[in-house]
Amino acid sequence: MQTIKKEINELKKLRNAVILAHNYERSEVQDIADFTGDSLELARKAATIEADVIVFCGVYFMAETAAILNPTKKVLIPNPESGCAMADMINGAQLRELKNEHPNACAVCYVNSTAEVKAECDMCVTSGNAEKVMKDFAKGREIIFVPDQHLGSHISEKLGSKYILWQGYCPVHAKLKAEKISAARKAHPNAIVMVHPECCKEVRDAADEILSTGAMCTFVKKSDAKEFIVGTEIGILHRLENENPDKKFYPVSDDIVCPDMKRTTLESIRNSLKTMTTVVTVPEEISVRAKRAIDAMLSLS
Ligand code: 13P
Ligand code: SF4
Repeated sequence: MQTIKKEINELKKLRNAVILAHNYERSEVQDIADFTGDSLELARKAATIEADVIVFCGVYFMAETAAILNPTKKVLIPNPESGCAMADMINGAQLRELKNEHPNACAVCYVNSTAEVKAECDMCVTSGNAEKVMKDFAKGREIIFVPDQHLGSHISEKLGSKYILWQGYCPVHAKLKAEKISAARKAHPNAIVMVHPECCKEVRDAADEILSTGAMCTFVKKSDAKEFIVGTEIGILHRLENENPDKKFYPVSDDIVCPDMKRTTLESIRNSLKTMTTVVTVPEEISVRAKRAIDAMLSLS
C-alpha cells in the first residue's frame, strides 16, 4: 500500500496532475485524493483547476463534466467501466422524443446524465443545488426533468410545482426502504436520519433531513447532535467519520454500495497516471451544447 501511494505521488508530480474523488469512492482513494466532494463541489473544482491533468475518481458522467468544463486539460478516468446505471436510463434520442411531445417545455437534467443528454437540456442541476436552481429557473415554465424521478419529485414537491418526470432511478438507492429506516431508528433512537434525494418518497418521508452528500457533510459539522443514521452509499461514512471524530454514524444498511464507484482502486489510479489512460473526451459539437446547461447551473448556484 505504501509503495503504491509513493508511486502515485511521484507520477502526480511528473504529470502535474490533481486527483479528484467523489464521496462514495473507496476510503484509500479518498485518502490519496487532493479534493473529495459531491457532484457539485467536484464540478466547481474542475472548473478552476490549474494542473495539466485531472485524474477523476468517480463515475463516467462526472469525468465527462470535468472534461467539458476543461477542454484544454487532460481528464483521465482510472477505470472507464465506471458508469452510472441511472445516467444510462435515458439517451439523447429518447429525450428529443419527449421534447417533441412537449414543445413548450424547458428540459432540465440531473448532472447524473450523459453529455449527449446534457446537450439537449436548457439547465442542469445536482442534488446539492437543485432546489435553488429550480426556484430561480423554473418560474412558471413547463419543465421536463430527467432522468431521476425521485430527485425530480422531491424538488417539485418542495417548490409546489409539477414536472414532467422521466422514470429513471438509482438502483443503489432503491435498496433503501422505509422499514429499514424504522429499524435503524429503533436501534439508535437519538440519531438524526439523513437520506439522499435519490431515495423514493416513502424513504424521504421517513427521514429527518434530505441532503446531497456534500450537504450531509456540512449539516453534520454544524449539528449539535452526536449520532446520525446515513441513508446513502456507504462510502460517505469515511469522510463523515474523518471530519467528525466525536460523532457516530450508522449506515441504514451495509449493502448500499455503488459497484461503479468501487471500480477505482489505487492500482487503477497508478496505472492511469503511468499510461495516461483512459482520456475522457466529448465530441466538440456535444461538449459545447452540454457546457451551456452546466454553465447555466454554475451561474445560479
Ligand atoms: P451527490 O451529488 O450528492 O454527490 O450524489 C451523486 C450521486 O451519484 C448520488 O448517487
Ligand atoms: Fe449512479 Fe446510483 Fe451509483 Fe450514484 S449511486 S453513481 S446514481 S448508480
